[in-house]
Amino acid sequence: MRKVGIIGGGNVGATCAYQVASRGTADVAVYDIVEGVPAGKALDMSQVGPIFGFDGRVTGSHDVSIIEGSEVVVVTAGFPRKPGMDRMDLLRKNADIAKASGEAIKKYAPDAIVVCVTNPLDVMTWTTQQATGFDASRVVGMAGVLDSARFSTFIAMELGCSPIDVKAMVLGGHGDSMVPLPRFSTVGGVPITELMPADRIEALSDRTRNGGAEIVKLLGTGSAYYAPGAAAALMVDAILNDSDRLLPCSAYLDGVYGLSGMYCGVPVHLGAKGVSKIVELDLDEAELEMLKASAASVASGIADVQSLGASAS
Ligand code: NAI
Ligand code: 2OP
Repeated sequence: MRKVGIIGGGNVGATCAYQVASRGTADVAVYDIVEGVPAGKALDMSQVGPIFGFDGRVTGSHDVSIIEGSEVVVVTAGFPRKPGMDRMDLLRKNADIAKASGEAIKKYAPDAIVVCVTNPLDVMTWTTQQATGFDASRVVGMAGVLDSARFSTFIAMELGCSPIDVKAMVLGGHGDSMVPLPRFSTVGGVPITELMPADRIEALSDRTRNGGAEIVKLLGTGSAYYAPGAAAALMVDAILNDSDRLLPCSAYLDGVYGLSGMYCGVPVHLGAKGVSKIVELDLDEAELEMLKASAASVASGIADVQSLGASAS
């Protein structure tokens, strides 16, 4: 049986583990620093096997060597901002976790493709990639699949149509500056610019940009995990099945769209080798400006992580 490792067995990690396990195509190993919980959740998930009829094993441990030999590793380990923490405190904490995760992957799963989920997503994907030392094509971030699914959901709600027929595209960093692209978002192949007025498109784009915050507010504690876990599992499928899917993912940019030196959400071909190609859309001036502004905010986050590293040494 093939193997998928999950680092961080909290809400997103456990949801992703459950999604991957229920496909029955791979064993799933969940690592978390918390003792007992990952093993307990894994045992619970295993017991779905006889009900749904999947035979992959699900295991959990607070010993990171459990991910040994994984073909794909999903990184969801991280902490939310707590009272009294500023943005840099959170960045430091999660950057340390991303670094430790990357080092563990390098040691125990040196051939893996890595899917990062931890926030701030694009910066933590860069941090993890640096710690693995892997070619950047083998480390990819999950955000665009989720943000595009949110945009698709809002479009389907607005038009009263099936979400299955909606294919939306959201690029850029995972944050306020993300870039919904109405011209490249379609329902049954028809661009949404033909189906609704500009002010409604702008309202849905704004709701997408605030999609995570809207759920945080409703939940009262914690953030979204069903759709994030499913989005990461979909990327795992694309890698395990070498399906060469064209998906919006956070990929390392090395000249495309005139951008270099950072991770940012762009359309990529995703398969067994990770990102095999970045697709350069023919963006208009306004779209390209928004993508560049979003990439600039990621670049500034990366500079912050670099400055933390420098001050720690
Ligand atoms: P959570 O708090 O439920 O789970 C995080 C888990 O990480 C906890 O179980 C914690 O014990 C574990 N952890 C902490 N340090 C660790 C370490 N060094 N090694 C292993 N495990 C460690 O949080 P949740 O909801 O699962 O979110 C996880 C991360 O994903 C957060 O950073 C969140 O902001 C991010 N996220 C990103 C999304 C995206 O679109 N990229 C969407 C949703 C969440
Ligand atoms: C989300 O978009 C919090 O990044 C997380 O739901």
